[in-house]
Amino acid sequence: MNVLDAINTRASAAKLDLPAPTREQMEKILVSGCHAPDHGKLAPWRFIVLEGDKRNILGRAMIEAMKAANPAATDADLERERAKVDRAPTIVVVAAKTVDKGDKIPQIEQVVAVGAATQNVFLAANALGFGAMWKTGGPAYDPIVKRALGLEVQDQIIGFVYLGTATMAGQVKSPNMDGRIQFL
Ligand SMILES: Cc1cc2nc3c(=O)[nH]c(=O)nc-3n(C[C@H](O)[C@H](O)[C@H](O)COP(=O)(O)O)c2cc1C
Repeated sequence: MNVLDAINTRASAAKLDLPAPTREQMEKILVSGCHAPDHGKLAPWRFIVLEGDKRNILGRAMIEAMKAANPAATDADLERERAKVDRAPTIVVVAAKTVDKGDKIPQIEQVVAVGAATQNVFLAANALGFGAMWKTGGPAYDPIVKRALGLEVQDQIIGFVYLGTATMAGQVKSPNMDGRIQFL
């Protein structure tokens, strides 16, 4: 698949299941992530791969985070939260670990680089025939979740990328270009 096709046919999958990317395919996908543009060669991205049962690390942390934020959460609420990790056989947590480079490489540039890395992961998965979903939500900003994943509180989770085989494809949407593009 050429790069324009990978970009222009990208859509979030509606449903994902096995087969998941093999280890060799995962490595290809993550190497693509590491090819993102990166001011100062800081490689601010971190990819934490949760395959199969390892997704429970995130599921348990999401339960703990919800309990801490909302002590009145019912068992059903907690199970609904945990069940999010069942959305796909593999989850890649993409995080930004930024460093202080003053005005030369502001933090936002480092975070944007990790956004680009996340999109590369998405596109590489698409090119290899896999579906993906990019999610965040409360858990992405929660210190309990970050610590459970081995991250530090100041690290930023840019996305939970759910990966697998799309059993229901997403719809490729017409982009909203209205007033968004100007040739001066
Ligand atoms: C940084 C980021 C975070 C997102 N977080 C969520 C999320 O938590 N839940 C959600 O339903 N969609 C989330 N989305 C949007 C979806 O991933 C998706 O891109 C959107 O629904 C548009 O669908 P499409 O990817 O098929 O074009 C997020 C997108 C980005 C870029």
